[in-house]
Amino acid sequence: MSEIKKICCIGAGYVGGPTMAMIAAKCPGIDVSVVDINEARIAAWNSDTLPIYEPGLDELVIGARGKNLFFSTDVDAAIVDADIIFVSVGTPTKTYGMGAGKAADLCYIEGAARMIAKVAKGPKIIVEKSTIPVRTAEAIKTILEANSEEGTFQVLSNPEFLAEGTAIDDMSDPDRILIGGDPSDEGQAAVAALASVYGTWIPDDRIIRTNLWSSELSKLVANAFLAQRISSINSISALCEKTEADVDEVANAIGMDSRIGSKFLKASVGFGGSCFQKDLLNLVYLSGHFGLPEVANYWQAVIDMNEWQKERFSAKVVQTLFNTVRGKKIGIWGFAFKKDTNDTRESAAIYVCRDLLMEGANIAIYDPKVGAEQVYADLEYLGMERAKLEKQITFCDSCEEAASEAHGVAVLTEWGEFKTVDFEKIYEGMFKPAFLFDGRNIIDAELVREVGFDFYSIGKG
Ligand code: UDX
Ligand code: ADP
Repeated sequence: MSEIKKICCIGAGYVGGPTMAMIAAKCPGIDVSVVDINEARIAAWNSDTLPIYEPGLDELVIGARGKNLFFSTDVDAAIVDADIIFVSVGTPTKTYGMGAGKAADLCYIEGAARMIAKVAKGPKIIVEKSTIPVRTAEAIKTILEANSEEGTFQVLSNPEFLAEGTAIDDMSDPDRILIGGDPSDEGQAAVAALASVYGTWIPDDRIIRTNLWSSELSKLVANAFLAQRISSINSISALCEKTEADVDEVANAIGMDSRIGSKFLKASVGFGGSCFQKDLLNLVYLSGHFGLPEVANYWQAVIDMNEWQKERFSAKVVQTLFNTVRGKKIGIWGFAFKKDTNDTRESAAIYVCRDLLMEGANIAIYDPKVGAEQVYADLEYLGMERAKLEKQITFCDSCEEAASEAHGVAVLTEWGEFKTVDFEKIYEGMFKPAFLFDGRNIIDAELVREVGFDFYSIGKG
């Protein structure tokens, strides 16, 4: 393939939008079109209020939009023009049929592959960017070849490792770029073409080339290992609470062993986000599918520990508030699955709020980036009724408002602003005894205890 001039990305979500904005910014000679069937989403990408919040993203998009970065719903036109087509559509966990609750739902991937097959002419490089189960490339290839009259395709796997909230830094200076391709000459030429795009700003020794299946599996395994570290430290947090140990001190002590390392050892109310649970479930499903129940059970335990951590937190709140929260107001600080994002997918907050609402609590939510409609949608998805939710939930513009006349406050996202609020003022406005439950271990225990709070922090003896 000659020099890459045009790139198209199908799917303008948390992965497609930011990655394409970065490629456009780094490669002014390449035209990048991001397309999506969701008109509202595309309109938002073309407006002053982007559909996703990500530090540094606005500047990146505004700098390139209309020059070599375009957002459109004209999927066909973008496919026809492109040398490389990234597929960044969602791959949520299946909610129906075979593998429900475990396997990835590949209907969007298949839909995108069929769209490509229908209109593509000439040679195209198709890049799987979405997290997908191993051997999806093969399925994509089969669909393309069976349905296309004039196109020829090389399918590559190029999983994205960016984390939300730090996406721009992660993409500017990634630990590695992984490209999996077919070992044939054509396959390797496609790998080289994609590598040349990344090579504009990433040193070649950080671009790993593997076969397709290793690349696909590596993405699942990377997320599974990261999630496993969190479940491991969360399991220890429960043990710390039974002893005099402090989980942050333990994490620090073990993390200084260079063989262990210090990252992803922060005990919390549980990991969330669109990837960890989905990829673990996927790994469990694949292992079961290939007749490896021991492997499946091993990774299932990582999910189970995460579930338990969330339940344990909700139970702690209820028990501490004298075993009843019925009719009591509880302030919720943070609803996003982590700080610096407006994404709530699989956020621990959804489950903790669900538990407290089921116990009859009234909750007052403050999150700097998550709005009421998203919260309602997340809880309705769990089967809760909108009318009841509207009665039990209020939405607030500040930490103070959420805590006002509350019996307790639960910190569920580690937003920086929660560390520096005026705790004396918060305490004054609350019912006494006033409880503070820190699900993220970010609040200064000494400070808030001095103010008068009854304070609980995950994993503190
Ligand atoms: C993750 C991977 O990090 C990224 O490489 C992949 O591409 C997508 O999945 P993301 O889900 O955006 O990224 O965020 P991440 O920073 O990994 O956090 C995931 C969850 O784990 C969050 O809920 C976070 O709060 C939690 N977490 C993280 C902890 O509870 N403790 C930690 O030490 C780290
Ligand atoms: P991720 O976090 O993986 O980026 P998102 O759900 O945020 O996932 O984004 C995926 C996007 O892909 C959605 O905006 C959805 O509308 C889009 N999409 C799904 N199927 C197609 C398709 N066949 N053509 C174009 N866009 C699609």
